[in-house]
Amino acid sequence: MVMPLPCGLALLGWSSFERSEKSFFAAFGVTYLSLMTENSQEQTLAALGVKQPDQVAPLFAGLLSLAKADLNAANSAEGFEKFRVRWLGRKSGVLTLVTDNWLKPACKELKPAVGQALNKFKAQLETAMEARRAAIESGAQEAVSAKDRVDLSLPGVIRPVGSRHLIRQVLQEIEDIFVSIGFSVVEGPEIETPYYNFEALNIPEFHPVRDDMDTFYVEARRESGAVLTAPGSLLLRTHTSPMQIRTMEKRKPPVRVIVPGKVYRRDNPDATHSFMFHQIEGLAVDHDITFCDFTGTIEYFVKQYFGSGVKTRFRPSYFPFTEPSVEFDVSCIFCGGSGSAASGQTCGKCKGSGWIELFGAGMVDPEVDGFVNYDAKKVSGFAFGMGMDRLSMRKYGIDDIQAFFQNDVRFLKQFP
Ligand code: DAH
Repeated sequence: MVMPLPCGLALLGWSSFERSEKSFFAAFGVTYLSLMTENSQEQTLAALGVKQPDQVAPLFAGLLSLAKADLNAANSAEGFEKFRVRWLGRKSGVLTLVTDNWLKPACKELKPAVGQALNKFKAQLETAMEARRAAIESGAQEAVSAKDRVDLSLPGVIRPVGSRHLIRQVLQEIEDIFVSIGFSVVEGPEIETPYYNFEALNIPEFHPVRDDMDTFYVEARRESGAVLTAPGSLLLRTHTSPMQIRTMEKRKPPVRVIVPGKVYRRDNPDATHSFMFHQIEGLAVDHDITFCDFTGTIEYFVKQYFGSGVKTRFRPSYFPFTEPSVEFDVSCIFCGGSGSAASGQTCGKCKGSGWIELFGAGMVDPEVDGFVNYDAKKVSGFAFGMGMDRLSMRKYGIDDIQAFFQNDVRFLKQFP
């Protein structure tokens, strides 16, 4: 397109040029600027053939069109700055050239019109530039905020909610059963003295039972390394039974407590052994507790825990702190006590016996009463010590105690 300008200057196809700053300005530079700069002296209004005041306004209108097109092509802060230098640059900006070549040398008749048109042009240019600057800035801001914007439609990060460890769940279950029949829950120290862990439970030094409870001994040291405790004077409790003694020392009968907690033995880890495991101790002492109360209580617990369909039995056993002592069994919950699995093969859980060994228990040995100043002639009681890990394994068919301590989410997830 050829755009005729009143000054006789033809701006060849400027609007059909790509509106990129560069190509547009190239067009502008070749036509308009070349006139302004290369022949600045000659390119006065007179040289451009502008003789009448009414020719001035169209001349500036054309200039404004050029400026606006150039301005619109500036779409960044950098492009805008380049535009500003091109048009308003003091030394060789278009406005300076116009002032020098058009205004200053204008004849008397034209000067007022040129002056006015130039002022109007400056104001229009300023307004256009302000609008463009704001557009560029808000565009930049939009781009930034679009980057930072949170897309609420995106799926969120799913953080799986954990659950209580099976041992905790089983502990809660056992506590609930015993609390419902009048027991309270107490806890005791995991670092014990041999007196509470052994002697007061009627397990003197060199008693063979100590061999079954291979013990971790603990040394207390100052920061300097100086040992504070005599060798063998502290240990990690091998069972929760020491709390029988501590409880009876503090309380007079009637006593009905259960004591959950961690216990430690120097056992090599395998499917049924761990150097740390969990027990629940039980103790009931009163003036009229009989063996019937004892078996009735245990049976009640076992049926609550495994279901009313199970049977219980006890076998004679030996523990230094109970007399008589028993081992409690429950009918196998996997084969229903038949000893054979659904496939007809021997039940793998009870090895065909139909019974599963649960825990040790017995009537409190009068020897123990002596250690806690109970009168064995007036009071009697029973005690039991259950392995919580074993109780969980029996109920949920878990074959390896290590599964409790490995924190494998695939295992833990099975007990939500
Ligand atoms: N403390 C015993 C052990 O860890 C278990 C035990 C047996 C506890 C009989 C008792 C009990 O209270 O009466 O092997």
